[in-house]
Amino acid sequence: MIVEEEKRIRVMEGEWDPVSVARDVIEGGQEDPFYVMDVGEVVARYRQWKELMPRVEPFYAVKCNDDKLLVRTLAALGTGFDCASKAEIELVTSIGVKPERIIFANPAKMASHIKYSSNVGVDTMTFDSETELMKIKQLMPHAKLVVRIRCDATEAQCPLGIKFGCDPVTEAPRLLKLAAVLGLQVIGVSFHVGSGALETAVYHRAIQYCRALFAMGADVGHDNMRLLDIGGGFPGGYICAFVILVIVIVWWQVSQVINSALETYFNDMRVRVIAEPGRYFAAAAYTLFTMVHAKREITQKDVEGLEEAHTMYFINDGVYGSFNCVLYDHQEVTAELMEESGGKPASCSVWGPSCDGLDCVVGRARLPPVAVGRWLVFRDMGAYTLPVASPFNGFPVPTVRAHIDASLWSALVDSLPLSEANFCRASATPPPAAVYVECALK
Ligand SMILES: Cc1ncc(COP(=O)(O)O)c(C=O)c1O
Repeated sequence: MIVEEEKRIRVMEGEWDPVSVARDVIEGGQEDPFYVMDVGEVVARYRQWKELMPRVEPFYAVKCNDDKLLVRTLAALGTGFDCASKAEIELVTSIGVKPERIIFANPAKMASHIKYSSNVGVDTMTFDSETELMKIKQLMPHAKLVVRIRCDATEAQCPLGIKFGCDPVTEAPRLLKLAAVLGLQVIGVSFHVGSGALETAVYHRAIQYCRALFAMGADVGHDNMRLLDIGGGFPGGYICAFVILVIVIVWWQVSQVINSALETYFNDMRVRVIAEPGRYFAAAAYTLFTMVHAKREITQKDVEGLEEAHTMYFINDGVYGSFNCVLYDHQEVTAELMEESGGKPASCSVWGPSCDGLDCVVGRARLPPVAVGRWLVFRDMGAYTLPVASPFNGFPVPTVRAHIDASLWSALVDSLPLSEANFCRASATPPPAAVYVECALK
């Protein structure tokens, strides 16, 4: 297998971090925005997950970031996958993940996607309505069904309950009965408390509902209910060094709530517990580097209505690219200077490269003066950014440069679907031009 240099994971010896790597890239003449991905962050998150919630198997939510190297890394570590479409199932199975490690976790599926799922052996899928049950009855009567209920966190970055999940009290029991009447097998219950959930106790409430539905399911003839899917919603990024501690405490709290609810409601049952984390694995592993290519000095009113000098910085990635997360994922992003400029922080805003007035990345910030040609750093940019980004107005979607510390790569190098071909030594010289030509033509 020939893998392009840029699509390989660079094995790093000695001290390094995303900024030091980016410095080398920029010195090499880079002008377009790019990500530095730290594979070690994904490995650390996986290990932490296993420690905090040993009973819960993570099924990575591919929608969050379908970067092949991330998906391969997680597959090598042994996670399962939550796929929402035919294309996501195709991606995950194409790297050798067995269908048993996939849940088709979209309660409103297209007929052709169900047929595809059936053809490739992905049997486990969610539903939350009568029509979906009828569709599955017709297209894939042997499916292993998971009823998705609604149980919302009191606050979440992206609430999902408005769209998916049936009411656990008024609707789910009726759907369980209907499935039984149709001769369909329901094997479990799932929920999603909302992405970036800010309430931890919600997992307790949701698991309690699930327990009641396991009992009701058994009553109506689903005597093989054995899957509890606790969805996603776990926090992702660190934001800044000060918040790292806070985030670690939040993870610990969430895991305590989940572990104790499992102990309370599912101790007596042999139930397989899975989760569908997305941003937990993806967010912090990706750091985005963007260049300031223009700036404009203006006068504007400050928060108290007084006139102040203000600088508008224009960077080469915006809300049509990576920063779509500002619009769709309600993300607040923080710009940092890649190199200290020595000046005093002053009022500024950061804008994307497109012609659209909506293309504002940070509306109000205070940064030391940044010269044109300097670079800004945005951390925690791995979740719900790349898969949605478009090259609108001709501005390219950033490329990803993946790295791993030398101390970690031996643990991954022989774990399929990763192999020696997916790695290269930091000092390695680029492969000959012919390799690029061959890949480009494929
Ligand atoms: C069904 C489902 N599972 C999992 C996820 C991932 O959620 P998160 O990134 O909050 O972990 C999502 C996100 O939208 C989802 O819709």
